[in-house]
Amino acid sequence: MPSPGSDIGLKAVAKTYMTRSGDAVHAVNRVDLDIARGEFVSLLGPSGCGKTTILRMIAGLEPPTSGEIVMRGEAVWQKGRRSAVATRDMAMMFQEARLLPWFNIEENIALPLRLRGEDEKSRLEKARSLCSTVGLSGFERARPSNLSGGMRQRAALARALGTEPQALLLDEPFGALDAMTRDQMNIELQRVCLARGVTVALVTHSIAEAVFLSDRIVALAPRPSRVVDIYTVPFERPRPVELQRSAAFQQLVGRIRDDILRAAA
Ligand SMILES: Nc1ncnc2c1ncn2[C@@H]1O[C@H](COP(=O)(O)OP(=O)(O)OP(=O)(O)O)[C@@H](O)[C@H]1O
Ligand SMILES: [Mg+2]
Repeated sequence: MPSPGSDIGLKAVAKTYMTRSGDAVHAVNRVDLDIARGEFVSLLGPSGCGKTTILRMIAGLEPPTSGEIVMRGEAVWQKGRRSAVATRDMAMMFQEARLLPWFNIEENIALPLRLRGEDEKSRLEKARSLCSTVGLSGFERARPSNLSGGMRQRAALARALGTEPQALLLDEPFGALDAMTRDQMNIELQRVCLARGVTVALVTHSIAEAVFLSDRIVALAPRPSRVVDIYTVPFERPRPVELQRSAAFQQLVGRIRDDILRAAA
């Protein structure tokens, strides 16, 4: 069983996909991981090593082949079926914003609340307040196509926060953004997570992003993924952007990069 205080627990989780041609793809080998309440954990690993698969299994979108996933004491998967209770308080965010083009920004942000049956007045009020939280005030009525990529990701973050999730599962949410917008989004994300005490699992290809945002970093081996290293990040919060220029920050980034290269060799 996961340790006490654990928010998300993975015990011997493995995933094998069967392709249409009948081949078995071993995506995740055997992953054990406990993420504490309010903790920010990043997953780093080479392309195709199973990171998205791990997040999708936690989110209840993909059943594991074996092993157990627990969210706040509740099994996410029971006999191959997703538990609505365990996944209710999780929200996932993807590399692309996935906004509905025919809805404006506040309607997009309010959509999960609408699906939960919240009345129009209340959900639009919340959506407007979330727009301000993520720096989108003034764009509530804009269409997604009229926003920049960074603004669309802000809207996706606001939508993910709308249901007040206890856990956020983020799959390379800022990978497509330019470096400056990405820095801004990281500051925004850190602020929101600190304010709300939300538990986060972030998949990223950027070691610097992982070090900047995380309490712990999990390095995964090439497919099928298994945990090869876990790093604890010592920097105090809130962390300013300038931290990235410090020697201690760059040393940790360098050390993780060297370890990953060695593991892949
Ligand atoms: N639905 C599927 N059917 C068959 N194989 C799949 C399926 N989804 C993923 N895979 C395979 O499982 C492995 C892990 O995929 P996954 O998308 O989890 O990797 P990833 O670490 O997120 O990669 P990336 O960093 O490129 O996003 C890959 O080899 C992929 O081809
Ligand atoms: Mg992926």
